[in-house]
Amino acid sequence: MTNEHVVAALDLGSTRTCAVIAQVAGDVRAPGAKVLGVGICRETGVRRGVVRDIDETTRSIVSAMHDAERMAGVQVPGIHCGIAGEHIQVRTSTGLASVTAEEISRPDVERVNEVATAISLGQDRELLHSIPQEYRVDDQDGISDPKGMTGLRLEVQMYLVSVQTAAAQNLRKSVERAGYRVSRLVLEPLAASLAVLTEEERELGCALVDLGGGSTGVAIFKDGKVQHIASLPYAGSHVTGDIVQGLSVTQADAERLKEKWGTAYAPLVDPDESIGLPSTPGQGVRQAKRELLAHIIHQRLDEILGLVQGEIEKTGFTGNLPAGVVVTGGGAHQPGIVELAREVFATPARVGMPKRGISGLVDSVQAPRYAVAAGLLLYAARNILESEAAKQSGVGKFFGPMKRWLQDFF
Ligand SMILES: Nc1ncnc2c1ncn2[C@@H]1O[C@H](COP(=O)(O)OP(=O)(O)OP(=O)(O)O)[C@@H](O)[C@H]1O
Ligand SMILES: [Mg+2]
Repeated sequence: MTNEHVVAALDLGSTRTCAVIAQVAGDVRAPGAKVLGVGICRETGVRRGVVRDIDETTRSIVSAMHDAERMAGVQVPGIHCGIAGEHIQVRTSTGLASVTAEEISRPDVERVNEVATAISLGQDRELLHSIPQEYRVDDQDGISDPKGMTGLRLEVQMYLVSVQTAAAQNLRKSVERAGYRVSRLVLEPLAASLAVLTEEERELGCALVDLGGGSTGVAIFKDGKVQHIASLPYAGSHVTGDIVQGLSVTQADAERLKEKWGTAYAPLVDPDESIGLPSTPGQGVRQAKRELLAHIIHQRLDEILGLVQGEIEKTGFTGNLPAGVVVTGGGAHQPGIVELAREVFATPARVGMPKRGISGLVDSVQAPRYAVAAGLLLYAARNILESEAAKQSGVGKFFGPMKRWLQDFF
């Protein structure tokens, strides 16, 4: 196994840091990752995608990465790292270029892509992803690959995702202080979508909802393209906070109650069932209806999914996402979440389990809360396989800035 074929993913969440090391598997058409090692650290200096404490984040990365490296038996210098948060901005931009030769060539496509990307994002922003949405050749639109076509005028519509420079720098700084290098920052909901969505779902139309601890990431797809990305500052910790208030328990107990007895969809609970509540000596023995706990969780998640529905409305795809909603992240572990999502969105819904392309220590990562890490591995694997394929086919010498268009999403 050469070292270039080992990749590392780092998901810096609000509730835990998760590092996964894998060996590149599959081929360029179906990239895969064979998981070799996993490390989790439950102390984190990150809140809602933003580093709040560099030292704590660094310690967390060291701990998670060292555990993953020990398990894998390899050391990985470069890391694919997830990024999220409200500082993410998206916009579309168009690029126009004239075609002089007989047919449209790769450099023409490269040129028009460059034009669409060469816009000012503002001083404090850096470009994270530039995803060509579609090309137009003269009057014909909806073209996904214009190479080889004949025309005079080539136009591209580009989807640009940018992040706050400071947020990206603080992530890089934490990773570097931990002794690693960031190979690439990848937007978390897009990474998760690589691991859990099928091509058909992206084609028909669906929304990926990454229900985390501090934030909820949303990515909406239609016609095989990403149509909208958003990050909402509400997630599992708000549910826990409501339980703290509603049942007068500590944060840790609320978390335990939620995971042990909680349900996201109250009608699933037997109204007669009671659960024991942790109590102080003064409170004495306490009980609560399990239905009450379910109501608290149901209400808050209903509100959060309602906000996601608002994002879907912004794209104008309400009632037009036939493949429905796919939920990932820790919140997807909550029983009843699928029933609640079906009701809120009035579409099909399922939990997104990272399975496709993932092999090796699958038991350690085949859970919705690993969707981001698994997606980062697949993204890294695809980059490596695509560069190798390009080198072999001789396209390599053209691979300069072009690389990014080929290798970024979808
Ligand atoms: N079995 C479970 N039942 C209910 N909730 C759960 C379960 N497991 C995890 N969660 C919730 O999922 C949340 C953590 O999810 P996740 O690990 O995806 O978040 P994160 O990546 O650390 O945070 P973020 O992405 O928001 O920065 C917590 O609020 C936790 O309570
Ligand atoms: Mg997360």
